[in-house]
Amino acid sequence: MVDSQTTIALTEAVAVAQRGQSLFQLTVKVAPDPAWANPGVLAKLRAWEPAPKAYPLLDRPFTPHLYRPDLGELSFLIRPVGPGTRALASLRPGAQVRLTGPLGRGLADLDPNFVSRPLYLVAGGVGLAPMANLLAAQKAPARLFYGERRGQDLMDRDYLASFAPDFAAAAQDGQGYGEKGLATDLLVRALAQEKRAIFACGPPGLLAALAPLARKLGLRYFAAVEAFMACGLGVCLSCAKALTGGARIRLCQDGPVVDGLSLDWSAP
Ligand code: FES
Repeated sequence: MVDSQTTIALTEAVAVAQRGQSLFQLTVKVAPDPAWANPGVLAKLRAWEPAPKAYPLLDRPFTPHLYRPDLGELSFLIRPVGPGTRALASLRPGAQVRLTGPLGRGLADLDPNFVSRPLYLVAGGVGLAPMANLLAAQKAPARLFYGERRGQDLMDRDYLASFAPDFAAAAQDGQGYGEKGLATDLLVRALAQEKRAIFACGPPGLLAALAPLARKLGLRYFAAVEAFMACGLGVCLSCAKALTGGARIRLCQDGPVVDGLSLDWSAP
């Protein structure tokens, strides 16, 4: 693992910026740790004000969006879908947040030379989160394919272009600036022109669909897997997933970035 120390600390919200109709970028103060730049590592967040008891009991897992060591700031993409995420998306500057991390393994742990590898990036919904950190470090070409179910949920186009100059977007309902379809449709078209390794983050259905494609073409496939995580510390097994050989891993410790060809995507 990239050298780091997991800490649990109360920190401070710096800003919440709206990045789309249903997307917010929450920035918090953070102590320096290069592991925050490792695409796909995890943090757990919980709004701590006005009173911790006002919010849901469990801290929520998020993948950092952008680490700014020069400013001592770390940001996250939040889609407010429940009480915990709504509380985070509505924080005021200066409000306290509980931050736990870094947790788990990111892309740099699986592929230390990823910055020199031409990549196709595939993101579904808030699976866009780690792509800003990745693209900030990337030296080889990287093209991003981004999909949402509804065009109205697409990230603000100018903001997306600010960290991903080479991107294509799709929405299943054909609304918004993307073309009608799936992010995987865009990827399949690109693969017909040029083969590259794949790094994907998004819902399990999207990640599972990429495995047979990568296997058939003999491509490396790194998947940042979203999962329910209760403890985040390797204890509760709520994040356990099966490998193709039958063994089980804990995504909060052994992932969330895994070799996408090693997981048994059909197992619960
Ligand atoms: S979240 Fe508890 S073991 Fe992974």
